[in-house]
Amino acid sequence: MPKARTSWVCQQCGAVSPAYLGKCPSCGEWHSMVETIEERSTPSSGQTRHRASLQPLATISFDGEERIHVPIGELNRVLGGGLVRGSLVLVGGDPGIGKSTLILQAAGLLGREGNPVVYVSAEESAQQIKLRADRLQVSPDHILILSETNLDAILTALEGISPAMVVIDSIQTVMLDDITSAAGSVSQVRECTSRLMQWAKPRNVPVFVIGHVTKEGTIAGPRVLEHMVDAVLYLEGERFHQYRILRAVKNRFGSTDEVGVFKMADRGLREVQNPSEVFLAERSEIAPGSTVAVTMEGTRPILVEVQALATPTSFGLPRRSANGLDTSRLQLLVAVLQKRVGLSLGSQDVYANVVGGLRVLEPAVDLAVAVGIASSLRDRAVDRNAVVIGEVGLSGELRSVNRLDRRIAEAARMGFTRMIVPAGTRKSIGETPNGVDLVRCRTASEAIDAAIV
Ligand code: TYD
Ligand code: MG
Repeated sequence: MPKARTSWVCQQCGAVSPAYLGKCPSCGEWHSMVETIEERSTPSSGQTRHRASLQPLATISFDGEERIHVPIGELNRVLGGGLVRGSLVLVGGDPGIGKSTLILQAAGLLGREGNPVVYVSAEESAQQIKLRADRLQVSPDHILILSETNLDAILTALEGISPAMVVIDSIQTVMLDDITSAAGSVSQVRECTSRLMQWAKPRNVPVFVIGHVTKEGTIAGPRVLEHMVDAVLYLEGERFHQYRILRAVKNRFGSTDEVGVFKMADRGLREVQNPSEVFLAERSEIAPGSTVAVTMEGTRPILVEVQALATPTSFGLPRRSANGLDTSRLQLLVAVLQKRVGLSLGSQDVYANVVGGLRVLEPAVDLAVAVGIASSLRDRAVDRNAVVIGEVGLSGELRSVNRLDRRIAEAARMGFTRMIVPAGTRKSIGETPNGVDLVRCRTASEAIDAAIV
């Protein structure tokens, strides 16, 4: 028997090297190379000559997109208005964030008489799924559970039934026998996904593939699959907060602009219809340092409370720490406030935080952070009826932000009456809602004076 040849494969990006390397030359990840036995023949390399036929685009008939409506509105929207038949959707996220919960809830609603949902659990036992289904009060009538890790066995078991949907939980735990590397390695994960794709397309059955994102290099992250599947959804959120955001990072059948907002409750994930209300729910009465900003999550405006705290540094270098915001952006804002607004922050620690566990990375919250810092430093509260919107430039000027009209409309809907906005945005606003006082400011300094009462 010939000696098996091995090579080293990066578990993050799939780069191959003949020898061990501490750092992957392709993606720069450390300690991600794993020794893998080389596959001698790939399943696609046949001996026969390949034939293909050309087809004029005009002759291809297509009667509307066949989308399956998912009764979970937030999920339906992120999918681009429904689940396309035959599509492969990857649902990624940190372990324990709620991926299995969300997909099991969808499974309960999509199973039909004669077209059950097949839930392949390679990770948990059938009893564990049953326990979760009971807890979620998912209708168990049209769900078939398959506790199996071998993908060939899974596909054989699917013969003869026409499922409404197939769920693979998770892709890192299923494996194919003809690949020698361990389950979860790049070659297993890739080959299993491509096999599922070959199964799903001709049968027109949608497949949800669940994948964990891990920081260690030992298990292939779902990132290696992103280019293969039709849609990639990430479920994000802070472990210790209830809110979860479902975000599409790739979607061949819809926009990647949409996000879904959920709340993890004791009976699974609940849709949040009115995120602004939720993120402002715990706002206190009078608190210096607290401001309300409007962020766009996809095409949806969401109001969030931004808190800042400036306290004297006890010793050494002053600290700048951000939670839910970009720390380097906070440092930049502090510098602008010192130089252009004249706030003495050189001996102050500055902390900033977005309430509710949301991560806001767009520059439109700059002004809210800046106003919050000034408010905390002066120990005077910000006008309770004001929202603050704008990007702060390096010379302390305010820059306009996109979709200002939608942000203003959402703030007005939530009962805010003063909108502090950049001055140069007249044409993008359109009609101001009734009873709204639009305060246009040219600089961060003007905005701070207008916002703090
Ligand atoms: P799970 O869906 O198993 O996460 P994943 O598949 O992404 O690893 O969710 C696990 C977490 O969700 C767990 O910490 C408990 C919590 N949870 C609830 O709070 N309520 C519920 O009804 C369920 C089913 C789970
Ligand atoms: Mg799970």
